[in-house]
Amino acid sequence: MFILDHNDQEPLYKQLYKQIRAHVLSGKMPAHAKLPSVRDLAAELSTSRNTVDCAYQELYAEGYIYSKQRSGYFVSVLDHNITPLSLNHEPRKQRRPPQPSPGFAYDFHPARLDPASFPAAQWRTCFLECLRESSREFSQYGDPQGDWGLRSNIQQYLERSRGVVGEPDQIVICAGLQHGLDLVAHLLKESHSTVAVENPGYHLPRAVFRNNRFNILPVSVGLGGIDLETLRASNGTIAYVTPSHQLPMGYVMPVANRLNLIDWAESGGNVIIEDDYDSELRYHGKPIPSLQGLRPDGNIIYMGTFSKILSPALRLSYMVLPRSLLASFRDLYQDYFSSVSLLEQKTMTKFMEQGHWVRHVRRMRITYQKKHDAMLNAIEQYFGDRATVVGQGAGLHVVMQLQDENPGETEIIRRAAQNRINLFPISATYTTSAPSTTSLLLGFGGMSAAEIGQGIERLSRITLII
Ligand SMILES: Cc1ncc(COP(=O)(O)O)c(C=O)c1O
Repeated sequence: MFILDHNDQEPLYKQLYKQIRAHVLSGKMPAHAKLPSVRDLAAELSTSRNTVDCAYQELYAEGYIYSKQRSGYFVSVLDHNITPLSLNHEPRKQRRPPQPSPGFAYDFHPARLDPASFPAAQWRTCFLECLRESSREFSQYGDPQGDWGLRSNIQQYLERSRGVVGEPDQIVICAGLQHGLDLVAHLLKESHSTVAVENPGYHLPRAVFRNNRFNILPVSVGLGGIDLETLRASNGTIAYVTPSHQLPMGYVMPVANRLNLIDWAESGGNVIIEDDYDSELRYHGKPIPSLQGLRPDGNIIYMGTFSKILSPALRLSYMVLPRSLLASFRDLYQDYFSSVSLLEQKTMTKFMEQGHWVRHVRRMRITYQKKHDAMLNAIEQYFGDRATVVGQGAGLHVVMQLQDENPGETEIIRRAAQNRINLFPISATYTTSAPSTTSLLLGFGGMSAAEIGQGIERLSRITLII
């Protein structure tokens, strides 16, 4: 009645379990029918009793069969009109991991970091120390707002280096910017419906706002950041901005505009979300202090991330909430646990406490400044008068505006891909159509200085009008 295949990778008991289950579900083995004894079936199938016993145990545990003392196992009463969905499925094909994306020789994506930059040795030491010292804590859920030690370290760091004013109880550890924005969006959607975003601007937050049913209001960006006149005239009551390094244009919002934006928030009961994603990476002059530090008790939600300096794969970021939102935040999320692994949080705490973080920031600033300079030199050398660079001096990318409108972005990206160059379309950062002049968003984090030079040289050839 049953056939066991010794060459099959599936264990014998599982094969038997599945065959009996199929018989039970199809009605071939009717309700209350007695199953053969373990010994008899084992002998019939020339297999061990253990195999039959395991199959019966599993069927029994799942309710396909029941047992009667000293009589053996019997088929349970089932409604044959209801068949488990899994039985209707085709057998699963062997799963293959997703194919890696085609290898690019030159990758100008702005989110790439230096592939050799992750401080694996120090991270490993901190990780192992945490396992040794804190293993008892790993049997419990951590603090919903995030590990207190990490929040304290972040608070000190932000105060020292970003001029952010706040206490650790205002900090929430998040799993990346979108996670933080999602928490905030839930919190604000009761009393707000329209969020103003920079145009051009970071495209990924828009999905979060959209999924939370916000109206998205694109507001143009100039040298001074988001256009405040447009914002004031609009019905937007939340503004998501990148004032210290506008993405993608790299503009720094001057203090007069910052005060003006704060006034917009204060006078209208509006909220500013300040995304301070890469301000550690400023190569000339002093770092630009945060907007939040200008009005610590204002309606400003400050967001930062470890993705730019340390690793985007860790999914570790944070936000500083204004005191005015703390009670409602805790109220809304009182039944939520933290979404960030406590082990990673503890490791990050140690990494900061032991001074690795500050040293790493310093090292990365030097590493990326070299790449940044290599990018500017290469553009100067290979494009000369054909291009103007915008937004240099900070971060991990620059914008290169071409003198000629042709070939346009789509054609350049097509040619680039043919030449194994990866380009992220700057048009994706526009909510409206991008200007007719051609601009390229050029990240330099992921390539060596030599690769940057070669990549720009290749790019200069393919951007010629043919
Ligand atoms: C403007 C901006 N904000 C934030 C981030 C970081 O996001 P996350 O913390 O989700 O990695 C990025 C990453 O590219 C970014 O470009």
